[in-house]
Amino acid sequence: MKAVILAGGFGTRLRPLTNLVPKPLVSIAGVPLIQRIMDTLPPSVDEIIIAAGYRAHDIESYFLDRKEPAPVTVVTEHKPLGTAGALWNLRNKLDTTFLVLNSDVINSLSLADMISFHRDKHAIATISLWKVADPTAFGIVRLSNGTEISEFREKPKREEAFSNLINAGTYVMDTDIFQHINHENFSLEREVFPMLTDGRLHAYSFEGYWIDCGSREMFLAAQQLIINRDGLGIAKAAKVDGCSLNRPVAVEKGAHIRGVRLGPNAYVERGAKIGEGTTVENSAILANANVGKNCRISSSIVCPDAVVSDSTVSDNQILGGPSV
Ligand code: GTP
Repeated sequence: MKAVILAGGFGTRLRPLTNLVPKPLVSIAGVPLIQRIMDTLPPSVDEIIIAAGYRAHDIESYFLDRKEPAPVTVVTEHKPLGTAGALWNLRNKLDTTFLVLNSDVINSLSLADMISFHRDKHAIATISLWKVADPTAFGIVRLSNGTEISEFREKPKREEAFSNLINAGTYVMDTDIFQHINHENFSLEREVFPMLTDGRLHAYSFEGYWIDCGSREMFLAAQQLIINRDGLGIAKAAKVDGCSLNRPVAVEKGAHIRGVRLGPNAYVERGAKIGEGTTVENSAILANANVGKNCRISSSIVCPDAVVSDSTVSDNQILGGPSV
């Protein structure tokens, strides 16, 4: 089975971090998002096709000398084709049931179970489903006869939201889907799925967790989940002197922090330095960043290699990175 990872978006909500690195290569708690997705693929996947666009050469370079469980092909779109156009572009490579995954989601979904469900239902496509309190930023679905999708609406206004079940961005598809995708379709969510709400689309719900990491808030929520889930902490080769730690916190090797109040939910990536008297909470200090003394960094992401001057106060920001 082939798996297509959609990785061509601009990642505008994570700028300026994504001016520096495409969103699939943004590291959360030390591991790039796309790597986290690859690690969830079942053994039945024998080829991974990455549909890339923005900064595709960075994604190609990342996979150049890595050994993945299945061969990886990066296909570059020279202009953004949208989520449907990206699949249309790959139609000659997809000749049997295939997986499609957004590259910015962390979840506890079992792909093997979802594939079996799809086969049992004989669906043209199966969409993973997650329940949220506020669905207005997502695509919502209405279900009938158990798991059939009878209506699909992308980013509804609050008063239009007929359900709180959202498209969780992972799909199993049959090649018949290509009868409904052509070069004029742009979006799976806006154009293709709404045409197929006559019993041919099924929804697969799962328990556990699901986070779309495409915004600063959700990046930081995913970081906290991963620090807790994976039991991350202070690496042996990190220098942590005279700090007060309010867990969950993680400090990677080669990082050096002294006299810092860290946490809760703080991640300090390899090579980063933080000066005395600084407080870091609900934030990520990414690789080799240098944060000065007496700063207060809260609900923020400090980009790799950024230099933050002494006494900086940052609330709800992404600091550093080149502007474009
Ligand atoms: P924002 O600009 O912050 O909304 O991020 P984004 O550009 O990544 O858009 P969004 O989060 O809606 O994209 C969801 C998934 O689809 C991500 O995995 C994107 O990489 C992917 N994606 C979005 N547009 C395209 C496209 O034109 N081509 C391909 N191949 N993937 C896309």
